[in-house]
Amino acid sequence: MKYVIGIDLGTSALKAVLFRADGREIASATELLTMRQPKNGWAEQDPEDWYRAAIAALKHVMASGGVDREQVASIGLSGQMHGLVMLDRAGAVLRPCILWCDQRTKQECEELTRCVGSERLIEITANPALTGFTASKILWVKHHEPEIFANCRHILLPKDYLRYRLSGVFATDVSDASGMQLLDVPRRAWSGEMAEVLGIPLEYLPKLYESCEVTAGLSEKAAGLTGLAPGTPIVAGAGDNAAAAVGTGTVQEGRAFTTIGTSGVVYAHTEKPMLDPRGRVHTFCCAVPGCWHVMGVTQGAGLSLQWFRNQFCGPEQAEAEQTGRPVYTIMDEEAGQIPIGADRLLYLPYLMGERTPHLDPDCRGAFLGISAMHTRAHFIRAVMEGVTYSLCDCLSVMREMGLKAETMLVTGGGGKSALWRQMLCDAFNLPVKTAGSSEGPALGAAILAAVGGGLYSDVLSACAAMVKESGDCRLPVSENTAQYRRCYEVYRSLYGQLKPVFQALLSI
Ligand code: XUL
Repeated sequence: MKYVIGIDLGTSALKAVLFRADGREIASATELLTMRQPKNGWAEQDPEDWYRAAIAALKHVMASGGVDREQVASIGLSGQMHGLVMLDRAGAVLRPCILWCDQRTKQECEELTRCVGSERLIEITANPALTGFTASKILWVKHHEPEIFANCRHILLPKDYLRYRLSGVFATDVSDASGMQLLDVPRRAWSGEMAEVLGIPLEYLPKLYESCEVTAGLSEKAAGLTGLAPGTPIVAGAGDNAAAAVGTGTVQEGRAFTTIGTSGVVYAHTEKPMLDPRGRVHTFCCAVPGCWHVMGVTQGAGLSLQWFRNQFCGPEQAEAEQTGRPVYTIMDEEAGQIPIGADRLLYLPYLMGERTPHLDPDCRGAFLGISAMHTRAHFIRAVMEGVTYSLCDCLSVMREMGLKAETMLVTGGGGKSALWRQMLCDAFNLPVKTAGSSEGPALGAAILAAVGGGLYSDVLSACAAMVKESGDCRLPVSENTAQYRRCYEVYRSLYGQLKPVFQALLSI
């Protein structure tokens, strides 16, 4: 029997999972990560922390999996998208990675749009200039840290930094590269024009592959540290959302999924690059060669609940420690006692600005309608509902574009909550299914590894063999759908009314 490993470098944790070639999970390890926010709207991580986490997680799955290292056919990488990792000539990290949710580059986005022209930018990169994407971060370093920019020789995305440390090879894949704003997305090739505007030679960028191609072999050193065989092939892999698509079998037109991780995403597979003329959702290459995808992104999905837990849920955390039950299960039960609409309490999840549909780095979160009768449980429910409404915003843009989904698969940490899944089902007014594996991106990366390792001929047949459905399918309850719709209408009206307030806050 052959095996494959999927590594998913998330924002709050890195996971390594060892799968059998038929998709059965054999061993898994999770290493927690933290995010630094040196200023309001900034977000950074140290790339070396990712490497340490990857080594520890790989070592753990190899030690606990009971598998002969020669039987591991290959490794696939998946990771948080858009982050800027800069290395010098010797391959040393020059500064902390500026993450996907960092919002410091509003001016650089304006500059990019001015220099390239908004239509040309969309023609090449399929997207407007966005603060989350890598290109504007490169410009920011050029303007604010010129010595670092001058010493930079390699530009990498987060998962590709892991590849470099595990193999010494500079490579990336088309799905993750799509989020850099340096890729010609319709042609699946680096754009010389974009690189020139940023003032970087194309040689600074990693070699580009389709997601299931082999890019490198594990180094002797990494093999020694993890218990894997030297030379184990590492496939290109995919950005976390494109990898989750593979891990949930969302690889054909008509299929869609929603994920609630640190960010929230509504994702649909497309056979052609489809654009929203207002750029409210992203159009990227996907992990199936020759195909694309469209996705709407909520910046603060799981992040909102994690933030609320850390700041306000001391009693729930104490109960979790005493009883050994997960804190999110306790919070879920409390939220489940509160009626739909949280007794007229609304939450806007804009902790890190918002992408879909507002494309606004300056907006921030809000609770609205607080009454003296509200308890912490009301706030927990309001946070879950606010994230759900933001995901409804994503779905409604995609529906406007004519993308159809008859059912929605739900994945990610938030998808483990039955309450949240039913909320999505009622608010979307769509049947909601649960992915068979909760390891969407890691399984997706492993499936790509299985193709690159020669165990399957292509991504579709590998998905057919390795992705299982859970059998859990929820149907919308029409009464609930009507109630969520009334709340959503009020929620939708808030951003426009608060926009001047967000601007005023900025000027303080
Ligand atoms: C997608 C995005 C996030 C990150 C973090 O555009 O920014 O989903 O990939 O998970």
